[in-house]
Amino acid sequence: MPTTQADSTKSPIGQRTPRVDGPLKVTGRAQYASDFKFPGLLYAVPVEATIANGRVTALDTAAAEKMPGVRAIFQRANIGPIFRSTLGEGFEGIVDERRPPFADDVVRYYGQYIALAVGDTFESARAAADAVRATYAKERPNVSTDLKPDDEPDEIETSFGPVKRLQSVRGDAEKAFAGAPVRVDQTYVTPTETHNPIELQATTAVWDGDMLTIYEESQGVFNLRSVLAQMFGLPKEHVRVITKFVGSGFGSKLWPWTHCALAVAAARQLKKPVKLVVSRRMMFQTVGHRPRVQQRVRLGATPDGKLVSLQQDYVNAQAILDNYHEDCGEATAFQYSVPNLWVAFGRARRNVGSPTAMRGPGAVPGLYATESAMNELAEQLKLDPVRLRVLNEPKIDESMGVPFSSRHLLECLELGGEKFGWSRRNPAVGSMKRDGLTLGWGMAGCTWVAARFPVQASVQLRDDGTTRVACGTQDIGTGTYTILAQLASQKTGVPLDKVEVALGDTSLPEGPISGGSMVTASVIPAVYAAADAAAGSLFGVATGTPGSPFEKRAAADLAFENGLVFVKADGPARGVPFADVLRRAQVRLVTGNGKSEGTFGDPKPKYSMHSYGCHFVEVTWQPEIARLRVNRVVTVIDAGRILNPLAARNQIEGAVVMGIGMALFEHTTYDPQTGAPINSNLADYVMAVNADVPPIEVHFLDHPDMELNALGARGVGEIGLAGFAAAVTDAVHHATGVRVRELPVKIEDLLV
Ligand code: MOS
Repeated sequence: MPTTQADSTKSPIGQRTPRVDGPLKVTGRAQYASDFKFPGLLYAVPVEATIANGRVTALDTAAAEKMPGVRAIFQRANIGPIFRSTLGEGFEGIVDERRPPFADDVVRYYGQYIALAVGDTFESARAAADAVRATYAKERPNVSTDLKPDDEPDEIETSFGPVKRLQSVRGDAEKAFAGAPVRVDQTYVTPTETHNPIELQATTAVWDGDMLTIYEESQGVFNLRSVLAQMFGLPKEHVRVITKFVGSGFGSKLWPWTHCALAVAAARQLKKPVKLVVSRRMMFQTVGHRPRVQQRVRLGATPDGKLVSLQQDYVNAQAILDNYHEDCGEATAFQYSVPNLWVAFGRARRNVGSPTAMRGPGAVPGLYATESAMNELAEQLKLDPVRLRVLNEPKIDESMGVPFSSRHLLECLELGGEKFGWSRRNPAVGSMKRDGLTLGWGMAGCTWVAARFPVQASVQLRDDGTTRVACGTQDIGTGTYTILAQLASQKTGVPLDKVEVALGDTSLPEGPISGGSMVTASVIPAVYAAADAAAGSLFGVATGTPGSPFEKRAAADLAFENGLVFVKADGPARGVPFADVLRRAQVRLVTGNGKSEGTFGDPKPKYSMHSYGCHFVEVTWQPEIARLRVNRVVTVIDAGRILNPLAARNQIEGAVVMGIGMALFEHTTYDPQTGAPINSNLADYVMAVNADVPPIEVHFLDHPDMELNALGARGVGEIGLAGFAAAVTDAVHHATGVRVRELPVKIEDLLV
């Protein structure tokens, strides 16, 4: 590992590091998008359609307009131009719901915004929005939960560009399946799930002439800037997006939603700053969700457990106009060795708001299905499910024909099994008891992509001995402030409490989206390059200052380690603190800029790069009172080098909690009559809470993935959710004998 520190025990890398932004958060000084205040600030509240399919034939705003404190009621006629944005190069111009708000009178999903009330206070705007009367030509919505693929061409548009519906194929999977002695053919269903970050989505829009500043809880400020610049016909330089803190996102804040454009347009029309905070109900309607997916998985195997065929055909629900693809096949083609494989998908349009990425998009529902099928195959083969995975461990990525950069799934399984006590499992259903409870044990493997986005960053060294690292990425609660501080501290020798981190602002060097669990891996090379460039400037100052101890030296003779400038040949013992070098020269600061290329989406990679892991789950079952609980979890993750074990553990624990919700509780239900999501609040949309959460044991392997970056770090944000539900349903089967193939597991499923 390249390091600038002589004493590696002092390196902040790999240390359990509390959040550097923690004090700001717990003292309420952290400013979220809706916390920014401006003179003359107005409040906007959208009017939501109360049908899911049809047309607005009339909007009566007369009463609302006369209400006290109301500034305007906007609709298509008076909101002014909001243009359509298009996909650009790289990560630019990405939107799941492409239609600009108010673009036509057609309502395609329940809760679609049809008007916007703006008032002096939130209360006046809220009351005015409620007073707007809409008349509709209403048609029956299609929110059917039975998903059959629509008639679409072989290559289709998605939110990120064109994709082939036949995702991966090798050998003849159909024929091999037909001839296989042991077969599994099952369909697995995952319901619509809604992200529920605690922080509601919000926009505060401020115009100054033709310069627009937006305060938004965005997981990607640069993409948001490019979309807004297009929607309002502005040069990109005229739009600034600021996201200092995000109260979590889970993917719902990755791409812009229509409320943002509405706030911007209202602020433009009224020439005042406007704030719009989406309600919890709207969070279920207009800012994305994980779509419902139906997956048929067919496995064929030999009697001794070698896979001969794997087929996955899946359908995801999508919105009427948009092109979301839930990539459930992402991991299927490489996770196991199998000579004959087929992965294909279709989509089914429904009258729902656009789906979007939700934590572990694609792979999370995908692995639920394929790992469940593996567990069913193990049962048929009377084989330990861990053993089945060992038997089918691939030597290379068989879908791309390239080696894995670093894959230690078998070590995860071994360690997980040992920590959990898996060898004591009696596979007979209902056979294991403790304290009068029936125990169920289940397991599953998991994986998640590892790659880098392109990044720019800067590092400053200052004459007071502090440093500042800047990168236009975001901290969505995962610990990016802390990771950037650790990286800068390690390279400059400045202690963590003297490192300033600037992120969440398009005026900073362009940073990556907070998505795909890729920020940490992505920022390392750019921050390191920036720190090296800053050191280069420092050497220039050191050698160019009369009276400096380095005056007679060439910059190339100098080194910078642990905060000291020294002559390489002399070693650090005679080094000078960088602050002294700067002060002597009367230089306040030197800045280095760094840049790194992305690897994400590389069509011809040298290595197949992913993180891996497994979950072992114990449930307890009390048939007398139909009580099912997740009682114990052991999760092992192979995510390369872990830079901050405290934050990494938080991520995996949080994902496991979400996994309990996915397996047992979470589902958004649409009323077939109205098309409304009927459990659109935190009382009726049940999520796992503290009382549902058992002891969670998390272990990390330590195999740095040196193909990815200089520290060998991959990501940990999403992988902990992958595979988890399959481990739970397998444990449920072990306890109860019931195979539940449609999530979440409901008590009525078990009353048989
Ligand atoms: Mo994540 S769904 O990439 O925010």
